[in-house]
Amino acid sequence: MRILEIASEAVPFAKTGGLADVAGALPEALAGLGHEVAVVLPGYAAALSQGLPIEPTGIEFDVPIGTRTRPARILRCHREGMRADVYLIANGELFDRPSLYGGAHDYPDNAERFIFFSRAAMELACRLGGGWDILHCHDWQAGLVPAYRKVLYADRNELGVARTVMTIHNMAYQGLFWHWDMLLTGIDWRHFTWQEMEFYGKLSLLKTGLVFADAISTVSPTYAREIRTSGGCGLEGLLAARSDVLTGIVNGIDTTIWDPSADPTLPRAFGIADVEHGKEAARAALAARLGRPAPDARPLVAFIGRLVQQKGVELVIELLARSAGNGRAHFVVLGTGSEDYEGELRRLAEVYPGTVDVVIGFDEGLSHLVQAAADITLVPSQFEPCGLTQLYAQRYGSIPVVRSTGGLVDTVIDATPEAIRDGAATGFVFGRFDTNDLEQALERALAAHADGPLWRSLVANAMRRDWSWRASGRDYARLFEQTLARPAVTVG
Ligand code: ADP
Ligand code: GLC
Repeated sequence: MRILEIASEAVPFAKTGGLADVAGALPEALAGLGHEVAVVLPGYAAALSQGLPIEPTGIEFDVPIGTRTRPARILRCHREGMRADVYLIANGELFDRPSLYGGAHDYPDNAERFIFFSRAAMELACRLGGGWDILHCHDWQAGLVPAYRKVLYADRNELGVARTVMTIHNMAYQGLFWHWDMLLTGIDWRHFTWQEMEFYGKLSLLKTGLVFADAISTVSPTYAREIRTSGGCGLEGLLAARSDVLTGIVNGIDTTIWDPSADPTLPRAFGIADVEHGKEAARAALAARLGRPAPDARPLVAFIGRLVQQKGVELVIELLARSAGNGRAHFVVLGTGSEDYEGELRRLAEVYPGTVDVVIGFDEGLSHLVQAAADITLVPSQFEPCGLTQLYAQRYGSIPVVRSTGGLVDTVIDATPEAIRDGAATGFVFGRFDTNDLEQALERALAAHADGPLWRSLVANAMRRDWSWRASGRDYARLFEQTLARPAVTVG
């Protein structure tokens, strides 16, 4: 198949969260299965200035945006050893900004930025020509692509049979904009109805993608079920109506980047046999990095993630306020996000020096070191489409303590007596979104940690699990093949 992956972020070009990890690794997994894959990303200033081998293609065109046009300049990156070509759509005015989507507030012209991106991706697909099988669109930023395919680009031979697949990484971000932004799309107002692009008076780019796509996927089977009932952020009805084409495929991880036995950011490589030595070295390096004295023997409990409500940060804050005082564990938090959460976490670090360490910021290298150093990783999310943190934790021998929601259900096996007996247990799972439940699950984990043989078996189970893209890459390829075998969906 000829597949075009359209995403607003991808490792190593630009990253704010797990989408970038997926959009970085999935294309290579698909290419590894023998498919021809290209990726389209916005040409953010940060992506262009990291020394990656990015070159002009000579392809330039004007993109219609409302009553005017904006220029797109196409760059290409081909990295040694990588099979997928990455195209970057450069436009200084729209993408030469300090961050991807905005700071404390979203950029006010995000509608225009990603309408431009989606339309430019369509134009590029036409100019590259040769016929496409699948246009794979990720999240609301690419949500217009399925509509463009059916409305403005239905008769373009250069696109071939091109079916569209919309992958939802998070229903909570829908790309909702005021209705006048409809004018920027170039799509006729007759599509601005509740059955198509309108959502409570606004233009919804995610809904648009879900309506027009030939197939829909999300990043875990459990989340695929949840969003049809109560977790669909208002789009449950639409998702239930489209459940015949909605599937869940759990994310893989890039095992060339996340491999404790060959990770250049760690002071000492490690595997199952020498995990304790590896963790000891990582803890010493982490302490030095944080400017702390050498670590003590207490278990190290980590939280790494965006500091937003979804991630259960309020539970972590309450947990620290309650239990950091008893000094049984050492906590490290690495994150960035809401100023309120950042402030409360900093305050806790001041109240409990030596027991609570907080690093506010986005630091890829440090996230590897923290996973390697940690014994336990907390993922107490309110909802979690898939979650990658718990996958990295398991691979690095850090036992996840997670809430039973979304992809966390599909990727962590609770240490029940049966699961321990069967050698399957890899973590601790709790039910209600409540600090008491989190605290009890952490207590169970700490009690297990005190039992050497039990802990070693949990760590070995966790490290042994295969999270490579092999299986999920094949699932995506199967989904694409099934989508190609069906007639294209008609809308309206
Ligand atoms: P989400 O995409 O909702 O943020 P995921 O668990 O899927 O959640 O992915 C988060 C990704 O971002 C992981 O790769 C995680 O290591 C990384 N990450 C989150 N916060 C930070 C941070 N402050 N510094 C470095 N990496 C981070
Ligand atoms: C989203 C979700 C996260 C998922 C990631 C990659 O950001 O919040 O659960 O792992 O996308 O699919």
